Amino acid sequence: MRPTDLSSRCTCVVGLQWGDEAKGKIVDLLSQEHDVVIRFNGGANAGHTVVWNGHTFKFSLLPTGILHSHVVGVIANGVVVSPPQLLQEIETLHKAGIDVRGRILLSDRAHVVFPYHQDEDRLREKGTAQPIGTTGRGIGPCYQDKVGRNYGIRVGELLDEAHLERRLREIVPHKSRWLGAFASQAACGPANPSRADTLPTWSSGEPSSDKAILELASTYADYGRQLQPWIRDTVRFLHQAYQQGKRLLFETAQGCLLDVDHGTYPFVTSSNSSTTGLWSGSGFPARYLERVVGVVKAYTTRVGAGPFPTELDNHLGDYIRRRGKEYGTVTGRPRRCGWFDAVAVRYTAQISAADELAVMLLDVLSGLDEVAICVAYDLDGERIAEFPSDAHLLLRCRPVYERLPGWKQELAQVRQLADLPKEARQYLDRISELVGLPVGCVSVGPDREQTIFPP
Ligand code: IMP
Repeated sequence: MRPTDLSSRCTCVVGLQWGDEAKGKIVDLLSQEHDVVIRFNGGANAGHTVVWNGHTFKFSLLPTGILHSHVVGVIANGVVVSPPQLLQEIETLHKAGIDVRGRILLSDRAHVVFPYHQDEDRLREKGTAQPIGTTGRGIGPCYQDKVGRNYGIRVGELLDEAHLERRLREIVPHKSRWLGAFASQAACGPANPSRADTLPTWSSGEPSSDKAILELASTYADYGRQLQPWIRDTVRFLHQAYQQGKRLLFETAQGCLLDVDHGTYPFVTSSNSSTTGLWSGSGFPARYLERVVGVVKAYTTRVGAGPFPTELDNHLGDYIRRRGKEYGTVTGRPRRCGWFDAVAVRYTAQISAADELAVMLLDVLSGLDEVAICVAYDLDGERIAEFPSDAHLLLRCRPVYERLPGWKQELAQVRQLADLPKEARQYLDRISELVGLPVGCVSVGPDREQTIFPP
């Protein structure tokens, strides 16, 4: 991969693991050659970190490419939007002196995350014996209301206060009743005997009072007024931009293994976080994509619950976590760390139609005597090379490793493939061979310059 490759007018960057693959850096590099950068799934559960002129920016909703002054950032219909979070991110940019006037577009069809969604998210997690380990940002409940149709509210509806008030008068009492019932059950349930003290605001009955509903409507109508300059029919915008010859870069949030259809269900997020979500999440046909960059870490991480065959619950996992600063951008939770899983990545590369790999954080693995790659699974004594469709089967899979020599040299200063230790090159070659894709880019540190483009 070359950031300067001008041959693709329509590119998608997608994570091929469980998210946090450092996609932000790749999007940032590719944004130099694209005019429009689009988010099409997820919401404030995502966390993209970009180091820019000595500042570290953490975005949850804004497309990472927005830091480039020529880029228009689109938050498309498939995203679920928390208005205060978005306004705060815009404010951070203003404060850093980055002018975003006319450069952010928010779909009028995107769904709005309300405080009751966040309460519902936390409550569901507390009330189940098998929590997913969500980010608690209300993502699942908001998508649930979207597909359920009765209680979803879209961004466009924030622009009409009287209408919004009518909708909330219908929705809030229902939510309050439901959350109240669920909260008392969760508080007494076997999974959480001592949770009565942590009942969320929206389950106390109080919020369904007329005053509370009016306040909520007024607050969100005010957000609507503040966001109005950015709100657009982004489907039309994307098609026009494409017809005008603009270059489009789609930025997937999370990773393919968290995809609600194709990931390790139910330990997934609630959107299609592979390229499969691009078409529905933006209204732009995925068949126009000319290039899909699959981003992987040189190892694997996961936040939250769910099967993770190559997890290293030992000093090696701690070593990777420490060197890779593997703590969640959104929640600060320590990430689970493990070896590279070629079975999983071969599968996600296939469903995402990836053309090439961007291998991130290779520098983290320096200092190890030996590195390992999972090349197959042992499922109840049988060797399998395909990724199981059922998370409970995956839970029973034991990794079959191929072990390779490690390397001691630190890589942060390396800029050419030929200057990497031969063991590191051998490791990259083996990953490429096992996944079946060329390595177009290797990252050895967070800065732009710390990037190697194989010839
Ligand atoms: P939710 O998206 O907050 O509902 O969380 C569902 C699962 O996806 C949990 O395991 C989260 O830890 C995980 N998740 C959500 N967003 C991200 C992300 O941006 N990076 C990594 N994991 C994520």
